[in-house]
Amino acid sequence: MPSECSIGFSRWSIHYTVGNMTGGRIVPNYAWNQDLATGNAVIDNQHKQLFTAVNTLFNAYKSGKERQEVERTIEFLMGYSIKHFADEEKLQQEYDYPEYPRHRQIHDEFKVEVKELVEMLIQEGSTDEFVNKVYVTIGEWLVNHIKGEDFKMAAYVQSKMLMGKRQSA
Ligand SMILES: [Fe+2]
Repeated sequence: MPSECSIGFSRWSIHYTVGNMTGGRIVPNYAWNQDLATGNAVIDNQHKQLFTAVNTLFNAYKSGKERQEVERTIEFLMGYSIKHFADEEKLQQEYDYPEYPRHRQIHDEFKVEVKELVEMLIQEGSTDEFVNKVYVTIGEWLVNHIKGEDFKMAAYVQSKMLMGKRQSA
């Protein structure tokens, strides 16, 4: 039985679950926590859903569930990240965020990576390598993106909201 170990991995402030082994590697159990709060309720709730989907996918694989379930979850992840990015980008446009083009480009690059993961799943099935890649590509990316780009953007939007400056208003 895996033992929970709150070692508070300093870079991400997430917890590792010792014993979750994939391909001989211990993988982090991604969980949204207050350290990842941008302060925007809609964005934060969507981030929580994305972390839940990453964990659902990993757990489906770990418990030997059908490939169909892994496919369903990656499909959800793909669709939901597209929706989430669209909402974030709309907010940036509404508040005339100066770094919008760059932020959007980062989102677009991520979408390409997820598409590649889907291709990998189609070609090779839900292998150890695939699940590891999902974890690293999506899980790590989300944590780093939230703490970097999203924090910056949310702080900007928040300051504009306080000043009552909405582009489209
Ligand atoms: Fe973002």
